[in-house]
Amino acid sequence: MISELLIQKMHDATQVLVLTGAGISAESGLATFRDPDGHWDQYRPEDLANEGAFRRNPRLVQGWYHARRKAVLSALPNPGHRALGALAGLFREFTLVTQNVDRLHQRSGSDRVIELHGNIQQFHCIECGLDAPEAVFAEIASGQVACCQICGNLVRPAVVWFGESLPKEALDAAWQAATRAEVVLSVGTSGLVYPAAHLPLVAKRAGAFIAEVNIAPSALASEMDLVLIGKAGDILPTLLDALKNRKKADRT
Ligand code: OAD
Repeated sequence: MISELLIQKMHDATQVLVLTGAGISAESGLATFRDPDGHWDQYRPEDLANEGAFRRNPRLVQGWYHARRKAVLSALPNPGHRALGALAGLFREFTLVTQNVDRLHQRSGSDRVIELHGNIQQFHCIECGLDAPEAVFAEIASGQVACCQICGNLVRPAVVWFGESLPKEALDAAWQAATRAEVVLSVGTSGLVYPAAHLPLVAKRAGAFIAEVNIAPSALASEMDLVLIGKAGDILPTLLDALKNRKKADRT
């Protein structure tokens, strides 16, 4: 059951921002980071997701990202992703910001997704920044350490690692949208990683109504105006239907 208050707030809003995290892709079969059996249950972030770890052992890090990339390519968008794609059409301004690198939002039909943590399908040179051609997939798949065609340095996944800044353009766009938003939904994120976790708080300070959708209260739950407990793949389609019905009722 979706809260009447949220339906009313979203019905009245023209500017909405949704922040997603790994939880929205859990129902597509992709592991989250901090749930039991999540990535950080099996590995330490400092062994895999930072530049020092990569330079020390590029084969290990490239291998881990390769396994994740394969999982992402065989995963399909789920009803939660699709509901967000459809929700976009109901508002004058709808901003979808994700911490996910899996591109499942785009594959479910969402365009103009702001990717705060990069994209696991692309690579670039760690030194000169040159985008790597698709051929590096095959090199990494065969266990080789891929290197830049131009300068010969290591090729890395185009994701944000611990200790690195987020892409400026993406962060600025997300920040500005947060200050304009009337409603923010934070979906499937633990709310532990900043600056992404700041976005609902920035929006709240600017007057937005903020709500979260999660199977358990996140670290941001006490700041939320509303906490909806349940799977994103159940709650988001129900919210979409409720909003569409409300808009239809208004027109008749
Ligand atoms: P986490 O693994 O920290 O959190 C996933 C959240 O999703 C948890 O709060 C779960 O309760 C929730 N969840 C799980 N299944 C769900 C479902 N079906 N429906 C709704 N919620 C569900 O993942 P993130 O918050 O995305 O950064 O993690 C943030 C960042 O930390 C990641 O982008 C990654 C990681 O280190 C980098 O790699 C830079």
